[in-house]
Amino acid sequence: MAFDVERARAQTPGCVDRIHFNNCGAALMPTPVIHALKTHIDLEAQIGGYEAAAAADEKVQATYSAVARMLNCRSSEVAIVENATRGWDMAFYAFDFGAGDRILTCSAEYASNYIAFLQVARKTGALIETLPDDTHGAVDVEALREAIDDRVKLIAITHVPTNGGLVNPAAEIGKIAREHGIPFLLDACQSTGQMPLDVEELNVDILSATSRKFLRGPRGMGFLYVREPLITALEPPFLDLHAATWIAPGEYRLMDDARRFENWECNVAARIALGTAVTSALDWGLDAIEARVAVISAALRKGLTSLPGVRLRDLGTRHCGIVSFTVAEIAPAAVVQELRERGINSSVSRAPSTQLDMHGRGLDALVRAGVHYYNSEEEVARFLAALEDIIR
Ligand SMILES: Cc1ncc(COP(=O)(O)O)c(C=O)c1O
Repeated sequence: MAFDVERARAQTPGCVDRIHFNNCGAALMPTPVIHALKTHIDLEAQIGGYEAAAAADEKVQATYSAVARMLNCRSSEVAIVENATRGWDMAFYAFDFGAGDRILTCSAEYASNYIAFLQVARKTGALIETLPDDTHGAVDVEALREAIDDRVKLIAITHVPTNGGLVNPAAEIGKIAREHGIPFLLDACQSTGQMPLDVEELNVDILSATSRKFLRGPRGMGFLYVREPLITALEPPFLDLHAATWIAPGEYRLMDDARRFENWECNVAARIALGTAVTSALDWGLDAIEARVAVISAALRKGLTSLPGVRLRDLGTRHCGIVSFTVAEIAPAAVVQELRERGINSSVSRAPSTQLDMHGRGLDALVRAGVHYYNSEEEVARFLAALEDIIR
């Protein structure tokens, strides 16, 4: 069945006045998400924040179930947190690394994660090892297989990097991790909302994601999945009276579900709206979304290859909605600025965000155009015409 782009656009007020190809930065929220946010804020203003939270408890609980449905896990395995990084950190820093423990990661790993590896390595003597890429620039799965020994404490991979269309082979990596009983932590920040993610198929133990990108939820929201047997083995680095209960003057007891990774104070409106965003993605169908994103991103890639001086920078053989490129003689920031002046949103990805990959390819920065299902073929044509105009 054809994707109903007209309906998707009618639900996206932001696409009336501009071409938004920055879904990898933050997508445009659809009307049900905007409505969910505003409704709760109005309720808070009317009856008070705590009272509104109590009145909306069912809606908050529905967010956990929606995330669980999307990931094919239990609600008790979902923590709702401020952003992907905080979720990732709460799980990663809970591991008890020691000298000589090996952390296997990839060249596409996101800066915040890698900075955490460096800090833990410095403090504990754990070793960070970056797996080689295959000839297309994805994680080399055979090299991973060969790297496994009993000192590997964690495999931590970024599924879709912040700087391009690569989709790392998470399911193959997860299979190897599972065969060896090694925890597998997947940064799914950029893949969530643009493709199906099933934690059973991926054999993932921990997964972090954000609300504002391809899920089209509000900013300042994210979630963390932790597989049940691992939850009780991991004591998060920060605890409060929500993650644990102070049961005696010298004693506390941790929550025994994934809420031990959360903290008490939160943006309730955004929590509810995250659930709406997930439900909306499930209603469209993540397979259908992925197929539609593939059509639009392929059209954009095809058009870009015919423009003089434009070089596509996407790695791997399986590509997603992030289209990355450079333009000869024009800095990425200048391209993005020129596009913005023409009513087109894109963004710059700079080397410090994905140091290993960008350095390896001799790149300082590149342009990212992250397209989504509500973007149209006509917008692709207008984007290409604008870029052609900038190049001339
Ligand atoms: C691959 C990847 N991981 C993690 C993050 C961080 O997400 P958040 O800003 O929600 O913490 C980003 C943000 O751009 C990202 O692209």
